[in-house]
Amino acid sequence: GTTIPIAPEKAAPERQQPSSLDDCRRCDLWQNATQAVAGQGVHHAKIMLVGEQPGDQEDLAGKPFVGPAGALLDKAMDEAAMDRRKIYITNAVKHFKWEPRGKRRLHKTPAQKEVMACHYWLETELETVKPEVLVALGSTALKSILQSGSVTMKDHIGKPFRHEGRWVVVTYHPSYALRVPSAEARHEAVAAIVAALKLAQRLAD
Ligand code: URA
Repeated sequence: GTTIPIAPEKAAPERQQPSSLDDCRRCDLWQNATQAVAGQGVHHAKIMLVGEQPGDQEDLAGKPFVGPAGALLDKAMDEAAMDRRKIYITNAVKHFKWEPRGKRRLHKTPAQKEVMACHYWLETELETVKPEVLVALGSTALKSILQSGSVTMKDHIGKPFRHEGRWVVVTYHPSYALRVPSAEARHEAVAAIVAALKLAQRLAD
């Protein structure tokens, strides 16, 4: 008669604890990204800025906030007299999530399950840097910091609060300021970011 082959045991999905960010397989975003983008800044910075995820240019450069959003952020930091060399800048999600749009790679907002998977790395950064103040740039950053997909910016914007022993200041993402259609609204968004950075500095003093 015929022999029925014993089904090979289904391989366990690759979800081992990554020892380094470069090898992270906690979610699938690594597959389409060039590289993981870790945070950047001084070891015991008092202030940590948290963005969403690397953009197209950050994905290629391997450094956070070096593209257009970074340029706007640099301008806001200048206005707030915040020295980028004295703070720490990172993202809630370390791999660029995108979809093709013609020749361009169009940013896609990370899902909360990806944010939660990557929270492991934010925790690592928090333990290393030990900041006193976190600035959440946009809603993905806030959802990561609070580990909740249901929090909304409007409840927290302009109202700093304490969370796990540190201050959290919530403001717009610089890309939002780049996207708003009218010049007036754009100025307002930039002014709000500048105000949040100034507030973060006062809270860190
Ligand atoms: N947007 C982000 O949230 N982070 C970056 O590093 C760049 C753009």
